[in-house]
Formats: sequence, structure tokens, C-alpha cells
Amino acid sequence: MLEVRCEDIHQTLAEQNASYDIVVVNAFLHHVPEYLGLIRELAAVIKPGGQFFSFQDPLRYDTRGVLSHTFARAAYLSWRPFDGDVIGGLKRRFRRSQGIYLEESMHDNTEYHVTRKGVDQQAIRELLADLGFDCEIAPYFSTQSLVFQGLDAIGVKNTFGVIAQKRA
Ligand SMILES: C[S@@+](CC[C@H](N)C(=O)[O-])C[C@H]1O[C@@H](n2cnc3c(N)ncnc32)[C@H](O)[C@@H]1O
Repeated sequence: MLEVRCEDIHQTLAEQNASYDIVVVNAFLHHVPEYLGLIRELAAVIKPGGQFFSFQDPLRYDTRGVLSHTFARAAYLSWRPFDGDVIGGLKRRFRRSQGIYLEESMHDNTEYHVTRKGVDQQAIRELLADLGFDCEIAPYFSTQSLVFQGLDAIGVKNTFGVIAQKRA
């Protein structure tokens, strides 16, 4: 019974009188510059009792603990040399560390909030609460490095999910 469409989410949202039991997004919010505005629009089309479920977005970097920050960086450094374009990647990392982002750079814009300061999980929780949702933020550890993946068990967190239900 699923209808499958490949389109920009704003096109989906432009549909008149559409409403949904559940909206699920995976590894998505950090690609969207105005994700809070988008969540507001998504919340409006979720039916009472319906749910918003999102996961695999980076925690806002300045809310991560020292341990999580250190392990996330170590995991990145252990993965980076094997992903190609090492010099380009290091140059971009240095430029961004100076607060410089380029409009025309695919690398700066594809994973928009990965190259900036993460996704603000607290702002999402507050927004959804204001919009009449019961909302839980679920932090966990996620990395490209298989070696470091098990660190979640010792409390290292860098990624989060959102589990929210619109009050009926
Ligand atoms: C990291 S991928 C995740 C893909 C998929 N959800 C998964 O878990 O494998 C991010 C996806 O977000 C999509 N995306 C980014 N901005 C979008 C938008 N405005 N509307 C629809 N899709 C978008 C990209 O096309 C890309 O496929």
C-alpha cells in the first residue's frame, strides 16, 4: 500500500490537505539548513496521536562531553586517511575551523550541519514541545569506524534520534 516518490520534501509538503500518521527521517536533518522551520512544517501535517521519528544526526557539538568529543575526533582521524582526498579533506577541515564556509562548495553544503556545529537537539525538543508533542531525544554513539562503534556502551555519545508523538 506504499506510494513511493522521489522528490524534494518541500514538494511533498506543498500538497494540499495531506496529513500523516508518521513522518520518519533518517540521516536527513543535518542536510537541511533550516531544519527547525522544516520540522515546524512537518509537525503541522502529522495527525493527532501521530509520530515524528528522526535518527542519525550529529549532536550539537558544544553539548557533547569531553570524552565524546575526543572519541568522535579519534574515530574521524582513524577513518579519514582511508577515504581519499586526504589533503583536500584536511584543508577543508582547517578552513572550517576558522569559521569559513563556502556557498559554492559541495563539501560545505551537502552535510550542512556536520561541517558546522551539529544539529541542535535541545532546540528541536523545545520546538516540538511548543507544537504539542511529547518528545524524547535519544543520544547514542555512531561512527564510520567499526573499531570505535562499541564505545556507546561506556557512555560516549555523538549522534541522536528524536521520538515524538503529537498529543491527541
Ligand atoms: C545521508 S542521506 C540518507 C538517505 C537515507 N535516508 C538513508 O538512511 O540511507 C541524506 C538524504 O537526504 C536527502 N535530502 C537532502 N535534502 C533533501 C530535501 N530537501 N528533500 C528531500 N530529500 C533531501 C538526500 O537526497 C539524501 O538522500
